[in-house]
Amino acid sequence: MGEQRAKVITVGLQKGGVGKSTTSGVLAYFLSREKYKVLAVDMDSQGNLTDLLTQQDIEYFEEKTVLEAFEDGSVEDYIYRVNDYLHVVPSDDYLATLAKRLYTSDEMKYITDKNLGLAGILEPVIHDYDFIVIDTPPSLSEPMVNAICASDYVIILAESSKWAFTAVPRFIETVDMAKERVNPDLEVLGILKTMNDSRRADSKAFSELIKEEWPDLCFDVIIKRKPATGRIPMEGLFDNKELSSALEQ
Ligand SMILES: Nc1ncnc2c1ncn2[C@@H]1O[C@H](COP(=O)(O)OP(=O)(O)OP(=O)(O)O)[C@@H](O)[C@H]1O
Ligand SMILES: [Mg+2]
Repeated sequence: MGEQRAKVITVGLQKGGVGKSTTSGVLAYFLSREKYKVLAVDMDSQGNLTDLLTQQDIEYFEEKTVLEAFEDGSVEDYIYRVNDYLHVVPSDDYLATLAKRLYTSDEMKYITDKNLGLAGILEPVIHDYDFIVIDTPPSLSEPMVNAICASDYVIILAESSKWAFTAVPRFIETVDMAKERVNPDLEVLGILKTMNDSRRADSKAFSELIKEEWPDLCFDVIIKRKPATGRIPMEGLFDNKELSSALEQ
């Protein structure tokens, strides 16, 4: 067990389909390839990050997910080891019941601050990793708030579209609230513009609006909308022959 604490990074926005699972998966994968020890935590009941990184059918993880880890008080027994550097805490559809269980189940009574459940169950392994990367659902619900409150950094994914643009300030407000109330060290690492289609005037316009509104927060790199990137769920990240072209910007 090292002295150093893992840096915990949430990839989020409450707007759906902006590339959260793809980006968190790619981030976790590349950090692990650089020989950092990475724990990827799936906080979305769709289980997309679980699928992408483990290449297992979602049924394989029945009752072995982050939801049961909340009941147990630690993720320790719910870690799937992809290789020595990349570990995953999976999720499945039942994670959709997290809010109800947090407030009504006997197993989760011990979680006194319902925003800090995830932070608490990560604590036993926090010295075992260099990075913990968390994927989130498309809503400002309990899994999202728990992810934000457990994090050192948040990466905001902003697709170049109106509904992503209008979601960003509300997301930042949620991050600010978490910072004020429970997690003073929390920082927005930046806004990553995704799904950018430079041939479309509306996409270009929203990309520019995002840059105007948050000039200091936008990363220079912009993720393009590309068929090869869209095929990552089918091809996976390991042995994906078109991965470099999928990720080249
Ligand atoms: N850069 C890209 N270019 C083209 N398609 C992409 C790109 N990034 C992701 N996709 C595809 O777009 C869809 C949405 O991406 P993804 O699932 O990563 O978004 P998400 O924000 O996690 O969605 P959700 O909010 O439902 O969790 C997926 O089918 C994915 O394969
Ligand atoms: Mg997703």
